[in-house]
Amino acid sequence: MKCLFLIAIIQLLLQCTGKPLSGDDSYQKISEDVKREIAGYSDIAKAIINLAVYGNAKNRSYERLALFADTVGPRLSGSKNLDVAIEYMFSALQEEGLENVHLEPVKVPHWERGEEFALMLAPRSHSISILGLGSSVPTPPEGITAEVLVVSSFDELYKRAEEAKGKIVVYNQPYTSYGETVQYRAQGAVEAAKAGAVASLIRSITSFSINSPHTGWQYYQSNVPKIPTACISIEDAEMMARISSQGTKIIVKLKMGAKTYPDAYSFNTVAEIVGSKYPDQVVLVSGHLDSWDVGQGAMDDGGGAFISWEALSLIKDLGLCPKRTLRLVLWTGEEQGGVGAEQYYQLHKGNISNFDIVMESDEGTFMPTGLGFTGSDKARGIMKEIMQLLQPINVTNIYESGGGTDIDYWVKDGVPGASLRDDLSKYFWFHHSQGDTMTVQDPSQMNLCAAVWTVVSYVIADMEEMLPR
Ligand SMILES: *[C@@H]1O[C@H](CO)[C@@H](O)[C@H](O)[C@H]1NC(C)=O
Ligand SMILES: *[C@@H]1O[C@H](CO)[C@@H](O)[C@H](O)[C@H]1NC(C)=O
Ligand SMILES: *[C@@H]1O[C@H](CO)[C@@H](O)[C@H](O)[C@H]1NC(C)=O
Ligand SMILES: [Zn+2]
Repeated sequence: MKCLFLIAIIQLLLQCTGKPLSGDDSYQKISEDVKREIAGYSDIAKAIINLAVYGNAKNRSYERLALFADTVGPRLSGSKNLDVAIEYMFSALQEEGLENVHLEPVKVPHWERGEEFALMLAPRSHSISILGLGSSVPTPPEGITAEVLVVSSFDELYKRAEEAKGKIVVYNQPYTSYGETVQYRAQGAVEAAKAGAVASLIRSITSFSINSPHTGWQYYQSNVPKIPTACISIEDAEMMARISSQGTKIIVKLKMGAKTYPDAYSFNTVAEIVGSKYPDQVVLVSGHLDSWDVGQGAMDDGGGAFISWEALSLIKDLGLCPKRTLRLVLWTGEEQGGVGAEQYYQLHKGNISNFDIVMESDEGTFMPTGLGFTGSDKARGIMKEIMQLLQPINVTNIYESGGGTDIDYWVKDGVPGASLRDDLSKYFWFHHSQGDTMTVQDPSQMNLCAAVWTVVSYVIADMEEMLPR
């Protein structure tokens, strides 16, 4: 890899201006040194921004993602499509000439939804749009036909538990936030089964709908009967709530052909730019390559995966070679609970002291606003300073909490973690639904996301010291 002469000059300048400071306030002293070191990256930051936002790499992460998402499509854990996606990325990363391109095998869940439908039979005939939830059992081949009990919360279900026996429980819970409301998707079947229900239909976890059901993973408990479970649209959940509030009986026929196969082999996909001075130390940038089986997985998490790839590409294009290794990891099995990431952590945690920061983009690549960050106060101070390098595109905020399903294993053990923050106002409209397509992605927003991701990961990888824990 070719290094820019520029870097040598900047280093020289830094050494010349790094005059000793009075030793009475060690935090202040480090801070002033580090401030100067970070300010020294402003030309490189501008070069990255120019290339990503205005230059030859403009729209590249979007165009790469479009080609990938349009030809490969959705990438469910255990599916043939996910295998194709991993092969595709492996070849692309190799062809680009990135280093240590390799696959790390992981066993992942293999669940398929099969044929599924729901019909309201009474008080009128109506086809209910459903998406079965990941890990759901099927119905018997003839389906389940039962009366519906509509509840608006777990509390209401507990109070009316007697009425739930033998029925299909429909949850019409209001949407507050994804983090809070998602418990209905994750635990709805278990709670309904405890009350003796035969199936559960759950209002999709979103604030907006055009009759669109949203899928996602759900969790059975070993001592509770496993009942079939699916999400329905906001519209159908609200309609059934209105009908039942009139005291009118609702009958639904549910048919689900879901099937759980033995765990399948899959891979985390890895590529690097090897560090020039501290090759064993790692700055990790990541997104997950798997997706749900609906839509194209363009937003969740094609965008995050492809801006992470873009970070390595931009650095390579500029001929930059950071002191530490910049490692791209494209996780597998995220949607099934971070399966690929957990194994990666188990295999690599022996080297935890060499992990400088773990970064994941898995909350959209819309208009970026900054970074979520988890780490010590001192590290946060350094991150704030690094974000000043993004003044030219006005993305300088640092927020609390830089977690993500795939990096939380490291963050819990004290490794600094960062996640991309962006305009989430429409994210959950499309999340885990047929609506997650390239149409929701925007090239100029992705350019900005890529610039943020690249400047931050490059500067951390190249600073003299690792982030303090
Ligand atoms: C990049 O995308 C924007 C927005 O779609 C478009 O207007 C512009 O022409 C594209 N630029 C290039 C160089 O492809
Ligand atoms: C730990 O780091 C060393 C040095 O970079 C490397 O050779 C080794 O493969 C790493 N081990 C794991 C499990 O990642
Ligand atoms: C910069 O971003 C902030 C939000 O983070 C916004 O309030 C402000 O208007 C923006 N400034 C410019 C010049 O775009
Ligand atoms: Zn995701």
